[in-house]
Amino acid sequence: MSLLARFTVIGGLSSEQLARKIASRLKARYVGYELRIFPDGEGKITLKAKPTGKIIVVHSIYPPVDSNLVQVLALVSQARKYSSQVYAVIPYMGYARQDREFLPREVVTMSLVAKMFKAAGATRIIVVDIHSMMALRHFCIPAKNATAIGELVKYFRKLHLKDPLVVSPDMGGIERAKSFANLMGTGYIALEKHRDRKTGEVVISSSDNQEVRNRDLILVDDMISTGGSIVKATEHLKRQKCGRVFACCIHALLIGDAEKRIRRAGVTRIISTNTIPGKTGVVDVSPVIARAIS
Ligand code: R5P
Repeated sequence: MSLLARFTVIGGLSSEQLARKIASRLKARYVGYELRIFPDGEGKITLKAKPTGKIIVVHSIYPPVDSNLVQVLALVSQARKYSSQVYAVIPYMGYARQDREFLPREVVTMSLVAKMFKAAGATRIIVVDIHSMMALRHFCIPAKNATAIGELVKYFRKLHLKDPLVVSPDMGGIERAKSFANLMGTGYIALEKHRDRKTGEVVISSSDNQEVRNRDLILVDDMISTGGSIVKATEHLKRQKCGRVFACCIHALLIGDAEKRIRRAGVTRIISTNTIPGKTGVVDVSPVIARAIS
């Protein structure tokens, strides 16, 4: 690769494989970095080479969320010393669920995170299926949401499911379910979910959903974190005598024993993208990110 490549991709340790794929699609240079953790927990970053051209920093913000956030901000700030154009590609944007004040006096941390990216020197933000467009509106630099729904649908088409139906575990995800179903050429429904804002406990309050009987279901959500939403939705759908349940999401955080609890609830398979590395991440989002960049 020429040293004067049009783009340099700096791959964060949280997204190294995905960043390499994006670099290869863009025919860009790939620059990694070394991270040294001091005894007090501070991290020190050193780039392995000098970046050239437009710089793309790729770094998902999943647990440990705050360390990953500081690392990506440090990389963006360093990149800005070499280029006037620094794109922060955050395939999974942590803190996006804190996009508004749900309860009085709550901090809208997404708004602070957006300001931090600008202060660090990012000139553009690219995310993948961010939790809400409200979260994206906190950025005052150009911000783009690339969607991986089309790539997930390509995967599901190959599974030849029985009379599939797309199901959103909550009303907030109905548009996502609709676009998934339209691309699949199937129908969709959305369940009614209630989450206790203090305890985090999830309850599905939908009445009977006769239309799921004997059908294979694709339960689509933007993310699976503790698995509570998928577990409760699957238990509800199994009571309605549905066929197999496939849990599908863009971002699979799968905290603690989430995977085990989801399988125990009766889910046949969990399928996600590689915005967060892990064994469920079988759908590659590098094509949609490369398209969003170029
Ligand atoms: C909520 O609105 C989101 O779309 C997800 O449904 C939720 O964040 C998943 O979290 P958990 O897996 O902990 O239920």
